[in-house]
Amino acid sequence: MEITKDIFDIFLQDEHYQYIMKRLLEASMEESFNSIIISEAGPGYPIIYVNSAFCELTGYGPHEVMGKSPSLLQGPNTDSEVVGRLGRDLDEGNLFYGKAINYRKDGSEFMMEWKIAPIRNNKDEITHYLAIQREAPTE
Ligand SMILES: Cc1cc2nc3c(=O)[nH]c(=O)nc-3n(C[C@H](O)[C@H](O)[C@H](O)COP(=O)(O)O)c2cc1C
Repeated sequence: MEITKDIFDIFLQDEHYQYIMKRLLEASMEESFNSIIISEAGPGYPIIYVNSAFCELTGYGPHEVMGKSPSLLQGPNTDSEVVGRLGRDLDEGNLFYGKAINYRKDGSEFMMEWKIAPIRNNKDEITHYLAIQREAPTE
């Protein structure tokens, strides 16, 4: 068997390619140990998807955050320099990585460590953002 690292090539010959890709995406998101947010690229970055790990990490249910800005995780002790750099990275179309204090639904603080990847359409326009998040040890 030929070894390929490209996930899109592995099942290319399968007649159920699209179905398998959909199942792979679903399982990767839902069974992930990491929290995942998908947001629109428009003003306020409205949330359109969160996975189960997000709900476990933050205490929010999916319907409580749909259409809201991920900034609902921020509060008085969130490092504004990190948030500023995040805004600049997204404006420039770059990947963001950082850590900052965030807040669960019950108001308790934790250290969030997260990446945000811009998702581009076939015209190379950024339409969505994908964030992968986890709790990091407080420094
Ligand atoms: C997909 C996505 C996920 C985000 N996740 C977080 C997060 O977990 N914690 C956080 O403090 N900010 C997060 N943010 C950042 C805030 O939503 C917001 O972008 C930031 O406060 C800057 O907003 P502004 O450029 O409108 O001022 C996320 C942003 C996006 C687009």
